[in-house]
Amino acid sequence: MRLVLSEEQIRDGVADLSRQITGDYRGRPLTVLGALTGSLVFLSDLIRQLDFRLQVGLIRARSYRGRSILPGALTIQDAEMPEIAGRDVLLLDDIFDTGRTLAGLVETLRELRPASLKTAVLLLKQGRSEVPMVPDYYCFEIPDVFVVGYGLDYNDEYRHLPHVAALDKDEL
Ligand code: IMP
Ligand code: MG
Repeated sequence: MRLVLSEEQIRDGVADLSRQITGDYRGRPLTVLGALTGSLVFLSDLIRQLDFRLQVGLIRARSYRGRSILPGALTIQDAEMPEIAGRDVLLLDDIFDTGRTLAGLVETLRELRPASLKTAVLLLKQGRSEVPMVPDYYCFEIPDVFVVGYGLDYNDEYRHLPHVAALDKDEL
């Protein structure tokens, strides 16, 4: 494994983002929605630096690629999500890769009529996007490598690493 972002770099990046968000919302009550499971660590660090009225919720997107279902169709579980109609919503995910997950979540959440909807990711992978949207906020841009740690997984492992590391092909 090769270190991509140290604990300290991540701490600084998340602190910068929290200042940006604090400035942009100017104390307007916010609903922060974390996409499970990858955003958990990012979510917990970020919300503790937002010192204004805040609701927190969780949402899960699953993309099924089975035979009987549309390729890449996204289903969304919102059982842990508060009411978002009329609220300012900030959707968090760990990484923007092809962007399909975030774009799908945004499309679904828009139907619930939030007052505003923005997106924030820890990592933005360069040159991979397949959708006509970009996240409103991101902490770091990374090259097209497979990374784990700080919430990101390979096979649900490595999420607990405090840093972000690249896994080489022979480790996958
Ligand atoms: P997208 O829909 O292609 O943007 O993919 C987003 C999801 O794929 C993320 O929420 C991650 O769960 C997963 N993913 C994409 N790239 C990586 C990576 O480099 N490491 C770990 N998970 C990744
Ligand atoms: Mg994942």
